[in-house]
Amino acid sequence: MFRTLNFINSNRFNRMETYGEVVLQHIPVMCKEVLEFLNLGPGSIIVDATIGCGGHAKPILERVRPSGQLIGIDQDQQAIESTRENLKEFSDSLFLVNENFKDLEKILKGLKVEKIDGILFDLGVSSIQLDTPDRGFGIRHNAPLDMRMDGKNKISAFDLVNNLPFEELSRILREYGEERFHARIARAIVEQRKRRLITTTRELSDLVVRAQASHKFYKIHPATRTFQAFRIAVNNEINSFEVALKECVRFLNPGSRICVLSYHSLEDRIAKHTFRNLEKEGQVRRLTKKPMRPFQAELAQNPRARSAKLRAVEKNETI
Ligand SMILES: C[S@@+](CC[C@H](N)C(=O)[O-])C[C@H]1O[C@@H](n2cnc3c(N)ncnc32)[C@H](O)[C@@H]1O
Repeated sequence: MFRTLNFINSNRFNRMETYGEVVLQHIPVMCKEVLEFLNLGPGSIIVDATIGCGGHAKPILERVRPSGQLIGIDQDQQAIESTRENLKEFSDSLFLVNENFKDLEKILKGLKVEKIDGILFDLGVSSIQLDTPDRGFGIRHNAPLDMRMDGKNKISAFDLVNNLPFEELSRILREYGEERFHARIARAIVEQRKRRLITTTRELSDLVVRAQASHKFYKIHPATRTFQAFRIAVNNEINSFEVALKECVRFLNPGSRICVLSYHSLEDRIAKHTFRNLEKEGQVRRLTKKPMRPFQAELAQNPRARSAKLRAVEKNETI
């Protein structure tokens, strides 16, 4: 028997994924807008570079099959396995690849695909990763400090938290967490680990709360930004995205589109600058000069969409 986690308000969620005994859900963000931008139809070959739980993939598959294909990439093997199960009715049209999207060239070569008709990047972490207790992504579960999306990676959050020098901890918290108390938290980490290694999410979260003790009014949990910062650093998220976004254009057929859903200002800045430069070079036309944001109605259903920004471009015909 499955049980739902008691903090999940069931009317906020419309799909369910299963992890052992616990039912977890992820709602695809700005799905209607993404589908409109991707402009797909029967026969299209689409790459979902971050297939996650298959939330965007399912309606894409419904539109491209029977003659089209969806290539779904995720560096998280659990995501690939659960999507394989959830989307088994589409198995003839769906190719799942457990790789990092920065290796798109190798992935397409392996599948003998030369050109594609669209690509989606829905960046960051899925609700399922956040809510799976033993992955170490979330604040609300006590777990080993891990945060690796790709379990084959050698470096976990434990390694960064317990080994990086003060300056590097402070930089990660400032750049990736946009944390105003970056120096104070970095100092607290360095002090604590002199006494004892920091091994669990609870220890890290309690330490951050103590380091910010005089600042009592938070809209979010005081450790949210710290957890985001270490997750981005552990998974090298910014660098992988920058590489992949520049790379993917050359695989697109003329008239095909790139959609980027980002949740962090650094990622949005990369999308903005890369798209602007590609437009200057005559390679693409921007479909969004300013990023689109979710409507209020969507936010009421799915608060995790609150920081989402969507940008899209179309590859020019003449290249
Ligand atoms: C926000 S979730 C995607 C959710 C998906 N669109 C859905 O609606 O179900 C992001 C996913 O991208 C994956 N991911 C993040 N960076 C990646 C990378 N560099 N290469 C491959 N997958 C990545 C994560 O493991 C996660 O499953």
